[in-house]
Amino acid sequence: MTDTADRPAALVTGAATRLGREFALALADMGYDIALHYNSSATEAETTAAELRTRGSDAEPLQCDLSRHQDLPGLMERALARFPRLGVLVNSASRYVAGNLASTRPETVYAQLAVNLVAPMELMRVFAASVDAGCVVNIIDNKVAYAQYDYAAYLLSKKSLAEATRMAALEYAPRIRVNGLSPGVVMPMSSRTADYLRWRLDGIPLKRQGKPEHLCHALRYLVENDFVTGQILTVDGGEGMFQVGRHSENYPAAR
Ligand SMILES: NC(=O)c1ccc[n+]([C@@H]2O[C@H](COP(=O)([O-])OP(=O)(O)OC[C@H]3O[C@@H](n4cnc5c(N)ncnc54)[C@H](OP(=O)(O)O)[C@@H]3O)[C@@H](O)[C@H]2O)c1
Repeated sequence: MTDTADRPAALVTGAATRLGREFALALADMGYDIALHYNSSATEAETTAAELRTRGSDAEPLQCDLSRHQDLPGLMERALARFPRLGVLVNSASRYVAGNLASTRPETVYAQLAVNLVAPMELMRVFAASVDAGCVVNIIDNKVAYAQYDYAAYLLSKKSLAEATRMAALEYAPRIRVNGLSPGVVMPMSSRTADYLRWRLDGIPLKRQGKPEHLCHALRYLVENDFVTGQILTVDGGEGMFQVGRHSENYPAAR
C-alpha cells in the first residue's frame, strides 16, 4: 500500500451499506483512501472498512448524524485530519420516507430536506472552504424527472439537490467541480416484491434493472473527467424519459 500521505482520498457519506458501500469500493479501486461516513451502521462500517483495506486502501469509519448540521464542519475536519489529501466528496446518504403531498406533514418535509439537501449543501460548503481543489458527486435520483411520486418530500429534496448541484458548480468553479449522479432501479428496498419489480422493469425502455457497477462506471467518469461540471448524469435504462403524454396524432378529432 502507498503511504496514506501520498494517496488521494474521498469522503463518502452513507458508505457502510448498499450503494454508498459500492461507491466507496469503486473509489478504492480507483486508488483512493476512504473517509467512510456512517450514522447507525457501525458494524457494517467496520466490515466495509476491512474490505477496503483488503483492496489496498486505507479507510476510516467516521460517525455523524447528518441531520445535526452543527456537527458537519467537525466531520469534515476529522476526515481532513486523517486524510490530508482529501479531494473527493460523494454525498450518498439519504432518507427515504413514503407519502404523497396530501399525507406529508411539515416535520417529514424538514427531516428529508435536512439529510438530503441541507447536509450535502453544508458538506459542499466546508469542503470547498477546506481544500485547494476537488470534486463533488451528489447522488440524486432519476425520479427528479417526474412530478408525481409517492415519496413527495424525498422527491422535493432530490429535485432541490439537483438544483443545488448546478448552483454549486458555478459558485465553486474553477477550484471545485460539482456533478450529480441519478440512479434508477438498481438496489430496491428489500421489502419490494418480485411482482412489483417486474412491473417496474417493464416500464424501463431497456427492460432491465441496473447494477451497482453501472453507477460506479458513471461515478468514475464524473470523478476523472476534469472538464465536466454542473451535470446530472442519469443512469436508469431510460426510465426517467419514459413518460408517455398525449400526442396530436392520437387525438380522435384530429384524424
Ligand atoms: N437504491 C437505489 O436503487 C437508488 C435509486 C435511486 C436513487 N438512489 C440514491 O442513491 C443513494 C444511495 O442509495 P441507497 O439505497 O444505498 O440508500 P439507503 O440505503 O436508503 O441509505 C443510505 C444511508 O444513508 C444513511 N443515512 C440516513 N439518514 C441519515 C442521517 N440522519 N445521518 C447520516 N446518515 C444517514 C444511512 O446510514 P446508516 O445506515 O449508517 O445509518 C444509510 O445507510 C441515495 O442518495 C438514494 O437516494 C438509490
